[in-house]
Amino acid sequence: MNWSTFVLLLAAPILVLANQHHIDEKRKHSHGAAPAEGESNGDAAQVPHIIMYVIDDLGWNDVSYNGAEFSTPNIDFLANAGIKLNQYYVNRVCSPTRSSFMAGRYAYNMGQDGNVITNGHPYSLPLNHTTLGDKMKEAGYSTHAIGKWDLGYYKWEATPTRRGFDTFYGYYNADEDYFTHKCGAMYVNTTTKKRVVMTGVDFRNNEDPEVDQNGVYSTHVFTEQAEELIMAHNATKEPFFLYMAYQAVHGPLEAPQKYIDMCAHISRMDRRIFCGMMMALDEGIGNITKRLKASGMWENTLIVFTTDNGGQNHVGGNNWPLRGNKATMWEGGVRGIGFVSGVGVSKPFVYNGLMHASDWLPTLAKVGGATPATKQVLDGVNVWQELMANTTSPRSEVLITLNPPRTTKPAHPNQHQFLGTAAIRMENWKLILGEPDCAGAAQNETTNGTLSKCPNGWVHPSGIEVLPPANSDNVWLFDLDTDPLEKNDVHAQHPDVVEKLRQRIETFNATHINQVEPPVDPASNPALTGGVWSPWIKDEELA
Ligand SMILES: *[C@@H]1O[C@H](CO)[C@@H](O)[C@H](O)[C@H]1NC(C)=O
Ligand SMILES: *[C@@H]1O[C@H](CO)[C@@H](O)[C@H](O)[C@H]1NC(C)=O
Ligand SMILES: *[C@@H]1O[C@H](CO)[C@@H](O)[C@H](O)[C@H]1NC(C)=O
Ligand SMILES: *[C@@H]1O[C@H](CO)[C@@H](O)[C@H](O)[C@H]1NC(C)=O
Ligand SMILES: *[C@@H]1O[C@H](CO)[C@@H](O)[C@H](O)[C@H]1NC(C)=O
Ligand SMILES: *[C@@H]1O[C@H](CO)[C@@H](O)[C@H](O)[C@H]1NC(C)=O
Repeated sequence: MNWSTFVLLLAAPILVLANQHHIDEKRKHSHGAAPAEGESNGDAAQVPHIIMYVIDDLGWNDVSYNGAEFSTPNIDFLANAGIKLNQYYVNRVCSPTRSSFMAGRYAYNMGQDGNVITNGHPYSLPLNHTTLGDKMKEAGYSTHAIGKWDLGYYKWEATPTRRGFDTFYGYYNADEDYFTHKCGAMYVNTTTKKRVVMTGVDFRNNEDPEVDQNGVYSTHVFTEQAEELIMAHNATKEPFFLYMAYQAVHGPLEAPQKYIDMCAHISRMDRRIFCGMMMALDEGIGNITKRLKASGMWENTLIVFTTDNGGQNHVGGNNWPLRGNKATMWEGGVRGIGFVSGVGVSKPFVYNGLMHASDWLPTLAKVGGATPATKQVLDGVNVWQELMANTTSPRSEVLITLNPPRTTKPAHPNQHQFLGTAAIRMENWKLILGEPDCAGAAQNETTNGTLSKCPNGWVHPSGIEVLPPANSDNVWLFDLDTDPLEKNDVHAQHPDVVEKLRQRIETFNATHINQVEPPVDPASNPALTGGVWSPWIKDEELA
């Protein structure tokens, strides 16, 4: 098939995918002859199976195709055959990005920007939003979610099995032990003024607590679950959608010793363990690829691969050569690793058009054949056609983050960080306002050459941070076309551009939804629910 035929076919992506697969099959036998009208590929699924990998805290420099000092062959295999996203933005922390994946909106539009929904928080991704699971379900997919949810579980209505997923296997909170699957939370008792620590298991098979996996590393558990779903799937009956949100490679730094031993060449100990976590993850992704091939589904599977935010440098992650860390607005915090691979991708290339986490819902819904309509107004756009054809992105801007100053005391001491910050990318420009870092420490770093808690500079994988120059205005402007590493702040030289982008932020800000961040609810204590973190509020108790 020549390029123009391919582009033409893109006008009807559903057909294209079926045809594309068809054509690939035919090409093997008959040198590219077009398929006959109405010919079936023998698979009831006329749309692709979709696996969406969401890797937690995966940094720009944490995969070998992008320069990591360890090898990730199975991830590279997919990426190198696919379309690498080179200007793809996510939020700077996990729940906001995952909210964008699930609801196709900017996090600020859901009261979620900058906040991580952690244990015992009585809120969620807004319950009146259509989710990605809902859309794929509507398109006729069997829908599955594995791994981290982190979009709220205060009542059952907020949990994945009530939000468009036929099955769920994983945990509801933000992070936990990889082996015991336990996590904790703390609150201060208002009468005694004492700290109360709550701990419990957070692991589920659908809606039932899963207690049989104590001691088994989550990367193994989740991979095996995915493989079982693939083996059990009847591809002649319906297409398969798997939201595969691995726990890896978020802290805590834990991996079975054999994987750490594969990383003996790395001298920095936290980076070595992190590398071990990547070795297990890469093996797991390889196992899933093998399983898809063995099941006959591979030829009709689309792979989406994405991080949720940048790497956490002091927990082994790395964003070199990009600037900054997870939870910062620098590129290392928000320019995400991502690619698409598999059916529909005609040749490998690097896509330089802008994309955002919120684009997956409209894009995958379209690929799957669902209507574009959702209850919420979307910020995401369907980029499928432009992405596949390597043409100009329908996006010229991405609102990276927008946090109005808080009016209430934050629930968690670390949350003082999210005070009045905003960042926007428009064409080649990126404007940052407020505190770009995660600790409000931009002006406080003094030791050049060591690693700060939340780096604003450039951290080499060896752990050495080069500090940025001081900036007392709390306004930064970068021309990312010429300065992708954010070395030269040009806000003083381009006041007109600063003003234009600031006004754009003001336009968004005029409609922002107030941040939702109720404090940890003591009633969430897993001690009250058999030692397992569980929904604790009945539907009728909160309107
Ligand atoms: C991958 O499969 C191999 C062979 O079955 C198994 O030994 C290994 O534990 C699997 N790895 C993961 C991460 O599931
Ligand atoms: C994709 O488009 C860019 C410019 O937009 C171009 O430089 C690059 O060569 C294209 N790649 C392919 C494989 O067409
Ligand atoms: C969802 O509920 C919130 C709060 O009541 C409301 O502001 C918003 O408009 C609703 N959104 C949709 C899509 O119905
Ligand atoms: C930064 O320094 C200022 C002035 O010394 C201090 O008030 C502030 O608490 C420091 N911030 C952090 C995050 O250390
Ligand atoms: C930190 O050190 C590097 C050289 O190692 C230098 O280029 C950079 O300007 C220094 N940063 C500051 C803020 O002194
Ligand atoms: C957004 O609006 C709020 C008032 O609602 C204001 O306090 C804040 O400074 C604005 N933020 C930005 C980035 O303009």
